[in-house]
Amino acid sequence: MSVDDPRRHATGPGALTVLPLPTGRLVGAEDDLVDAVLEAADHAGVHLVDGDVLCVASKVVSIVEGAIIDLPQGDPQAARRQVARGQAARVVADAPWVLITQTPHGFVCANGGVDASNVADDRALLLPEDPDASAARLRDGLRARTGADVGIVVTDTFGRPWRRGQTEVALGVAGAPALRDERGGTDLGGRLLEVTEAAVADELAGTADLVRHKASATPFVLVRGLAAGEPGLGADLVRPAEEDLFRAGGPTAVTSAVTSRRTVRSFAPDPVPPGALREAVAAAATAPAPHHTRPWRFLRLTDRTRTRLLDAMAQRWRADLAGDGLPAERVETRVARSDAVLREAPEVLVPFVVLDGAHHYPDQRRRLAERDLFVLSGGAALQNLQVVLAGHGLGAAWISSTAFCPDTVRASLDLDADWAPLGMIAVGRPAGPPPPPRPAVDVDGLLLEY
Ligand SMILES: Cc1cc2nc3c(=O)[nH]c(=O)nc-3n(C[C@H](O)[C@H](O)[C@H](O)COP(=O)(O)O)c2cc1C
Repeated sequence: MSVDDPRRHATGPGALTVLPLPTGRLVGAEDDLVDAVLEAADHAGVHLVDGDVLCVASKVVSIVEGAIIDLPQGDPQAARRQVARGQAARVVADAPWVLITQTPHGFVCANGGVDASNVADDRALLLPEDPDASAARLRDGLRARTGADVGIVVTDTFGRPWRRGQTEVALGVAGAPALRDERGGTDLGGRLLEVTEAAVADELAGTADLVRHKASATPFVLVRGLAAGEPGLGADLVRPAEEDLFRAGGPTAVTSAVTSRRTVRSFAPDPVPPGALREAVAAAATAPAPHHTRPWRFLRLTDRTRTRLLDAMAQRWRADLAGDGLPAERVETRVARSDAVLREAPEVLVPFVVLDGAHHYPDQRRRLAERDLFVLSGGAALQNLQVVLAGHGLGAAWISSTAFCPDTVRASLDLDADWAPLGMIAVGRPAGPPPPPRPAVDVDGLLLEY
């Protein structure tokens, strides 16, 4: 019985037939995609007809389009992440086991879709550059050879937030529906459908995956019997940023990002990833500041500079505490306690506000107010910095030290008089489990109706 024999098809209104078209071999860079499809269809005894939809694994599209790269040297997993990060329009999540990025196409997926399966160890496939254009070319090619108007869905395997497992989704679409807009229609009870838009191309992609196995060389699956619909594009399925309610995780996630930051004073010896530090400083630099200035500087100390500065500050502190009449051994205990954090942290930043953008006032009242405003903006910046570090699983301790001896700091680091130090920030991976977020704070007594 031929695959085209109607008796092999599920029947009845709305029934679909889903036919795997195995190639029996790996499609290579030298292949022509139209030839490969027709060869597989021929092998399966299938003739393409108008209204068929062919789901094509994006891997073979990438292979024939030459979207394959040599990975940077080193660990292949790290190399894939490096490539994905380099190409990303946006890093969505960066976990030790996976990097989630948004690709320049707008797709949000693991490792930017950079895929190492079925290629040599030191190489990786990229997503097709323009999957809608790839789908359109294949559709045109098949029509030219067979006369049949076949819809194309270029598919790839994505994970989903909140759901375990992966499923196929549509990257590119031509001559087939992408979305079926049911808004304005009614349900069985006659109620108006206000939001229903069926992601038909994703459903087709998932349907195709039901009849193929990753190891079976079945990049093509034919879906026959789909009701005609308004043709769309893969790009139609990318949710625009302004409609993305989860981009910043919603109000609960934003609040918990802030409230889960805790002071960490004991660090593991592992280095702090420089990217995380840069990201944290970039976030710090979005803090509000007077007169549209960016008055913050963060000195990342080398070991030598750190020792020189801490030695100079300790000397100054000893003199202060001795002047307060503190017994010598208590002075040493205090200094040693502060030193334990600052000398042993994997990284130390010295934050400053630079007052060169401050307005000048003739009287002290306004001069001090102006200075306070700059210092306040430093506090806002340091809060941002620490929240972002915490998001990277890094701990930080804001230690007052430098604020008490600005002259010593400026002399030791050779800085101008308008650099005001705001303490020191010790940064590192927490030595133990991170401190739990604080319980919710009761704002009675803090927020006052007046
Ligand atoms: C301006 C400023 C100076 C601080 N100085 C020190 C310090 O010298 N030593 C220290 O251990 N913690 C210091 N801290 C951290 C506070 O003690 C810390 O925020 C407090 O323990 C609350 O803990 P949490 O940050 O985990 O909520 C400082 C915090 C701020 C905002």
